[in-house]
Amino acid sequence: MTSKGDKNLGSSDKELAVKAKTEFNKGNYSNCLQAKLRPERLETLEDVDNCILYYNYAVILYHLRQYRAALGIVSKIFRYIEPLVAPRPARTEEAPPRTMNTSVTLSSGQRMPLLGLGCSRASSQEVADAVETALLAGYRHIDTAYFYRNEDGVGEGIQAALKSGKMTRSDLFVVTKLPMIAMQVECHVYFQQRALREACKKHNIAITAYAPLGSPGRKVLYESHGVTLEPPDLLNNPVVCLVAQKHKRTAAQVLLRFLAQQDIIVIPKSTKATRIRENGDIFSFQLDELDMAALSSLDQGEPGRTFRMHMFPGVSDHPEAPF
Ligand SMILES: NC(=O)c1ccc[n+]([C@@H]2O[C@H](COP(=O)([O-])OP(=O)(O)OC[C@H]3O[C@@H](n4cnc5c(N)ncnc54)[C@H](OP(=O)(O)O)[C@@H]3O)[C@@H](O)[C@H]2O)c1
Repeated sequence: MTSKGDKNLGSSDKELAVKAKTEFNKGNYSNCLQAKLRPERLETLEDVDNCILYYNYAVILYHLRQYRAALGIVSKIFRYIEPLVAPRPARTEEAPPRTMNTSVTLSSGQRMPLLGLGCSRASSQEVADAVETALLAGYRHIDTAYFYRNEDGVGEGIQAALKSGKMTRSDLFVVTKLPMIAMQVECHVYFQQRALREACKKHNIAITAYAPLGSPGRKVLYESHGVTLEPPDLLNNPVVCLVAQKHKRTAAQVLLRFLAQQDIIVIPKSTKATRIRENGDIFSFQLDELDMAALSSLDQGEPGRTFRMHMFPGVSDHPEAPF
């Protein structure tokens, strides 16, 4: 990314923005707003780096529930960058995106599909229907576990889909939890796991992102274990929504594509047929450099982690927690 220097954003503004982001990453939310960027400068933004700083600021405002101010900043940034992005034909005529791999090669030589269906927190019947729908919609990877108590439903869904004759069992990648060659971790736009991804890349370990949509349905489960949790609202993040608007896609598709475009395997869970199909349609568009930069800037580092598994006895004290 190139910067044209401090033409429009004074170095003191930059320092303030960096300070705000640092405080934000440390979880010191109340300190963030000490960094007051001057909104009038948004009118004359001239380089991408400056946009990113303002994105950071907008994200902080968003998290402080100053939604209107956050959306205002993000809209201005988008108005600014729109002319920089090559004019796009309407979606129906959209040029086919650069060919993207739909699977990654594991160190064992096997190919693992980048898109899978998550199966947690659903009954056997729901999962049977969801798995059949997903396989018929083109998914070839199902993420399941004994712990989800619905493996019989997974089996039924697979059997039903095989009967269609559109696939054979050997086309399917059914994960019952993974060998080490592929690591499954919480990973989404607020918790991008950069250090872990770097380490895994070095050792040729594939990464599967669980909770790629932020796992919005978790609240009820946690409450049943006496834990109060407000899952992050990724689907309504203004940056995500604006990128989605730009591509005429949904926020969920943008969140999934953002990860898959970086070769991170995604396993969104849904038991709703329309959402399963929607989540499966992530290979027919692509995010450009600016979209990727904007979404990357949403990373909160460690404070973005939301799965701590506190409800399982002993997990908090485990020497390797959080996993
Ligand atoms: N290894 C581990 O420790 C671990 C931990 C957690 C999860 N996992 C795996 O990862 C999978 C995914 O994680 P997750 O289920 O926690 O979170 P997720 O996939 O990020 O989110 C699933 C939630 O989002 C909703 N949803 C799905 N598509 C949507 C869309 N297009 N628009 C709006 N809402 C949508 C679903 O509701 P509906 O079903 O009502 O559509 C569900 O409540 C799990 O199912 C499981 O297979 C593994």
